[in-house]
Amino acid sequence: MPLIPMRVMLDHAAENGYGIAALNVNNMEQIQAIMMAAQETDSPVIVQASRGARSYSNDAYLRHLMLAAVELNANLPICMHQDHGNSPETCLSAIEQNFTSVMMDGSLTADGKTPSDFDYNVKVTREVVDAAHAVGVSVEGEIGALGGIEDGHGAGLSEEEAQEHLTDPDEAEAFVAQTGVDALAVAIGTSHGAYKFSRKPSGEVLKISLIEEIHRRLPNTHIVMHGSSSVPQELQDIINTHGGRIRQTYGVPIEEIQRGIANGVRKVNVDTDNRLAITGAIRKLFAESPEKFDPRDYLKPARIAMAEVCKARMIAFGQAGHAGEIPVKTCKEMVDFYIKK
Ligand code: G3H
Ligand code: 13P
Ligand code: ZN
Repeated sequence: MPLIPMRVMLDHAAENGYGIAALNVNNMEQIQAIMMAAQETDSPVIVQASRGARSYSNDAYLRHLMLAAVELNANLPICMHQDHGNSPETCLSAIEQNFTSVMMDGSLTADGKTPSDFDYNVKVTREVVDAAHAVGVSVEGEIGALGGIEDGHGAGLSEEEAQEHLTDPDEAEAFVAQTGVDALAVAIGTSHGAYKFSRKPSGEVLKISLIEEIHRRLPNTHIVMHGSSSVPQELQDIINTHGGRIRQTYGVPIEEIQRGIANGVRKVNVDTDNRLAITGAIRKLFAESPEKFDPRDYLKPARIAMAEVCKARMIAFGQAGHAGEIPVKTCKEMVDFYIKK
């Protein structure tokens, strides 16, 4: 089956009340881990690549790895998504590389760090929506801005700045009306990376209630939760007992994500948990078998550890078992859908 536009998957998820994990990749083993998990759980798949991932792996490698994933998993619907596009140019280049969905993150300016204003966000997002929908590619926008700079990871603001940039439901309504995005990322107190919360988050810092409010006002908009790694204690422990140094930290509890899914969240972004799983498996192998030096000896357990995390998320978010139900629609077929809208 061809790569599927994200809109088709999120519509199905909304009709059937589940969420889909959007899992970041940078290399072959991560793509394989996701596909292993999806096969075992019969899940639709959203693979996403950040700008950093595209430059690390090189677009040509990434494109061919994804073609291999499609060829080897012909029974599964797979979407390829640009994570945090910083400019229309980034999104357009992703479309040229066969991505079937793009995120125009206009909540920050093109440097990927500085919060932008509403008018700028609408302008760049609208530009991407016009170009992407003309070829049937789905678009995610973001209103409000996430934190996540503490470990030098990803785009983001300090924890304090992020609390000042939570999504305003009035702006969310106006943004959707003015841009026509397929999916809307919202800022509800999560941040990118491992260091999200210094204790198990309460409703004061992790505002699922904001999702409830946005969903009440925009019942037909697919909501996206970024920074949704759960940072499991056991993964922190595996790393730390094998020579690593992760400061005690807390992520987004699975049950809070499930509350989000019950209130319109359809795409759940997870990267850090997979990074932790991979690192833990490699550290363990190095600590227990210091004589090993064949990369396959540590990349195989790393791949299995990531697949286990992906599997657990696919089951918890409810996408498991739905692969065969997703309508097989190409981007070309989606062009008509947008013209008629
Ligand atoms: O948005 C953050 C994702 O985890 C991707 O991170 O920009 O380091 O590839 P990255
Ligand atoms: P985490 O760092 O919580 O995995 O978030 C990933 C993300 O939001 C990618 O866009
Ligand atoms: Zn993100």
